[in-house]
Amino acid sequence: MARITAGVTTSHVPAVGMAVDLGKTQEPYWKPMFEGYEFSKQWMKENNPDVAIIVYNDHASYFGMEIMPTFAMGIADKYGICDEGYGPRPIPDVEGAPELSTFLAASLIMQDFDMTILNVLDVDHGLTVPMSLMFGTPDKWPTKIIPLPVNVVMNPQPSGERCLSLGKAIRKAVEAYDEDLSVQVWGTGGMSHQIQGARAGLVNAPWDKKFMDDLVNDPENLQYKPHLEYMIEAGSEGVELIMWLIMRGAMGDKVDEVYRFYHVPASNTAVGHMIMTPKE
Ligand code: DHB
Ligand code: FE
Repeated sequence: MARITAGVTTSHVPAVGMAVDLGKTQEPYWKPMFEGYEFSKQWMKENNPDVAIIVYNDHASYFGMEIMPTFAMGIADKYGICDEGYGPRPIPDVEGAPELSTFLAASLIMQDFDMTILNVLDVDHGLTVPMSLMFGTPDKWPTKIIPLPVNVVMNPQPSGERCLSLGKAIRKAVEAYDEDLSVQVWGTGGMSHQIQGARAGLVNAPWDKKFMDDLVNDPENLQYKPHLEYMIEAGSEGVELIMWLIMRGAMGDKVDEVYRFYHVPASNTAVGHMIMTPKE
């Protein structure tokens, strides 16, 4: 059977993708941040899964005001790269896992999560920046990807409870798939950041660090954090962190924390990154 082997969380700041693409990762501003992912790139080489389900949000790059699914799943065999205003990033297309994703989408729908099905999708920095951070700059990505876009950019966003429960349903679905595959779940976005308005540049390190502690040890309470608290404490875009709850729900009750990194700032944003594995 397929099994969930690890969870990854990471911020997805677009300027980080730019730094990779323009060869700036060793410049003094960026070096300390990229050094924080050296462990992870090595760990990923040693623990490369067959498939990674990447929970991320589209930033009105592919979707828009007209159509914004709450939860969606890509079931295509390939995904293109969005043009976010400077042309598509010069990175390989993303290879899908059509059979597994079709099975998972059906299983989630039968578990009452009404996923929007995406037979076509281009992915934006929400998905591609985490891939660059974890895999570096290969000619071809080493892992098949299942994109799982979540609406966190337009009101109303799904609740934390719904996100944690979706993760639990993903675990059930993966474990019901009759092929010996290792599957990771990634939760992207965050941490505290506000990229607009009077509080632009807001970072709340103590709040972020407590969020990471609670994500490991107390997700059952963390799920009830109201969206308003994310906005007040972590800035107007901090609510992206509900996507980390989907990853955590997929890990089961207890996890081993493999790695944690926190860095301020990257652009306007606090960068947080974790790797965890389900405790047997
Ligand atoms: C920025 C955009 C994001 O989507 C994000 O999650 C963090 C930062 C930015 O534009 O700087
Ligand atoms: Fe974002």
